[in-house]
Amino acid sequence: MGASASAAAPTPWSITLDDVTVRYPNGTVGLKNVSLDIPSGSMVAVVGLSGSGKSTLIRTINGLVPVTSGTLDVGEHRVSGASTRQLRRLRGDIGMVFQGFNLAGRASVLQNVLVGRLAHTSLWRTLLGAYSESDRQLAYRALESVGILPKLYARASELSGGQQQRVAIARALTQQPAIVLADEPVASLDPPTAHGVMADLRRINHDLGITVLVNLHLLDLAREYGVRMIGMRAGEVVYDGPAASASDADFESIYGRSISPEDRLRA
Ligand SMILES: Nc1ncnc2c1ncn2[C@@H]1O[C@H](COP(=O)(O)OP(=O)(O)OP(=O)(O)O)[C@@H](O)[C@H]1O
Ligand SMILES: [Mg+2]
Repeated sequence: MGASASAAAPTPWSITLDDVTVRYPNGTVGLKNVSLDIPSGSMVAVVGLSGSGKSTLIRTINGLVPVTSGTLDVGEHRVSGASTRQLRRLRGDIGMVFQGFNLAGRASVLQNVLVGRLAHTSLWRTLLGAYSESDRQLAYRALESVGILPKLYARASELSGGQQQRVAIARALTQQPAIVLADEPVASLDPPTAHGVMADLRRINHDLGITVLVNLHLLDLAREYGVRMIGMRAGEVVYDGPAASASDADFESIYGRSISPEDRLRA
């Protein structure tokens, strides 16, 4: 994706949590006194067991889950205590990528990717499906950057899982996001395909400077692609540092058991 495509893109955002606690209405604590400083342009992998709070962290950053106490700043937005209207504006600049792709299966690849322009398109244009030429160019470039351009007119449901996830990444890119949040984007893909999708996210971060936060189950992918790794357990940050230098003791504090020989082989 050339520099011209991102000319109007916002400056990548930093993410700052200061003693953030999130308590769900049923009393479950999703995040517990979390403080994190994620500078703009960084790539961070968040790892942890099921239920450790990875998705809660992502949902809190994009304002879907309210902060119970503490402060959260995302770019210039004070997310903690923000109004619905402010949160809508915030989400317009956040590209989301999910485990289940979240594509409209019957719609074409191009239509799915143009959805990324919705937050930036007037209502009448949206209703008419009248996307501007510059929106189309953004969509083409995003699809090209993840190698899916030849599938432009295919139905999303006709693509493989890896291809669908690339379309979802292209949709996020077409939005010209200030950050990309990916919640286990490779959990349902086979290992080579997972590596391809991770490489795409790494490239987006590296080439476009977009801040990328990606949740992963497995430490080995974090080691390979996450410059910085945040380990979570029961809503708390138990590791924060280079993925490559996590020790056996760090592994144990994240996963609650020592590292096995197989884990070593994978990592
Ligand atoms: N909407 C909700 N209401 C109440 N509790 C919730 C809600 N969503 C998550 N939780 C709880 O918050 C904690 C953290 O959940 P979260 O989904 O953030 O974990 P996770 O690390 O993403 O897990 P997984 O790897 O299974 O996706 C868990 O105890 C979970 O049961
Ligand atoms: Mg989750």
